[in-house]
Amino acid sequence: MADKEFPEGFLWGASTAAYQVEGGIENVDWAEAAREGKVPEAGRACDFYNRFGSDFEIAASLGMNAQRFSIEWARIEPEEGKFNEREIEHYRAVLERLKASGVTPMVNLWHFTLPLWFSERGGFLEKGAPEIFARYCRFVVERLGGYADLWLTHNEPIVYSSKGFWDGVWPPFLRNPLQYLRVIYAVAAAHRTAYTAMKTVRPSIQIGIAKHNIFFESNSNPLNRLLCVCSDWFWNHRFLRLIEGYQDFIGLNHYHHKKYGATSRERETAVRSDMGWEIHPTSLYHCLIALKRYGLPLYVSEHGLADAADVHRPEFIKNAARAVHRAIEEGAPVRGYFHWSLLDNYEWTEGFTKRFGLIEVNYDTLERTIRPSAYVYKQIIERNALID
Ligand code: BGC
Repeated sequence: MADKEFPEGFLWGASTAAYQVEGGIENVDWAEAAREGKVPEAGRACDFYNRFGSDFEIAASLGMNAQRFSIEWARIEPEEGKFNEREIEHYRAVLERLKASGVTPMVNLWHFTLPLWFSERGGFLEKGAPEIFARYCRFVVERLGGYADLWLTHNEPIVYSSKGFWDGVWPPFLRNPLQYLRVIYAVAAAHRTAYTAMKTVRPSIQIGIAKHNIFFESNSNPLNRLLCVCSDWFWNHRFLRLIEGYQDFIGLNHYHHKKYGATSRERETAVRSDMGWEIHPTSLYHCLIALKRYGLPLYVSEHGLADAADVHRPEFIKNAARAVHRAIEEGAPVRGYFHWSLLDNYEWTEGFTKRFGLIEVNYDTLERTIRPSAYVYKQIIERNALID
């Protein structure tokens, strides 16, 4: 790899998730919670369900050679065991579209939202959940496995469990430490069962999960050091150990840095996104290096920030490329980078108020406008190299 350049064939893309962009998804736990007034409504979102073609055209005009998107389980299996072939045809059209422009897909099978029938039965805590989830994954791979090599079963299992079973702010709105621990093991079991089922149908595909990891560090205080080691194990590595042997690559979703014992000056001077999250220039690098121990190919499957004014995103993207490049130079097998997100979208409990997109969406007209930072990304992609 020449100075500043990325390996040939490196994947550069962006990520989306069905419920956050597609619109018109009503038969899931999140839509039910919105009807009950517990979370904002997603409604028509960005109408990506109908506009994916033109959105992918914009992505291609920015030079992207990869896209990560998710399939909505409730569209494919709206009732238990009844699969909707028409929706399979929809996602086939999505994949055909990417194929026609030579874009590599990364397909995610579950991004937080559960079919209502499944959540009403207890979701992943239901006995038999691993087989139910695996049946869905297997069905999709039987139908669409020929279009993509890279598959994710789950997005951020630890975030899902923490928000829904510990903090109680996402469906199913529980604050129950025991259920929290149970659901982590249940989701891991569902992944392992799905992995085996998918591999049986199509052994050649590569399967992973998108794992949300945080860069933890501490000052020299022994208690803070201990907290740091425990958090790192608990948040970053425990789930990956539970599915060891059942993953062909790791997707890293990265947003956060946490320093135990940070000084008030460090806290006050930190640059923050519109979510109030610290923007740390090298945290991505540290997270990638920490994943080297698994000996698996790595993809940055999400990395981005809410920045409506687009003031921080240009430098953020340059720093992301620097972080990935440095990690590769130091032996981390990073194969691709997917920015979060292609479009502004539904940001869960924040509704549509936060702007994560390389492309701005006007929610009244659904008009798309490319943000200036997207052109910074384009330069990196076109050169396949760092820029100053
Ligand atoms: C999730 C996305 C979310 C993003 C920004 C990730 O944790 O996968 O769905 O929109 O972070 O909060």
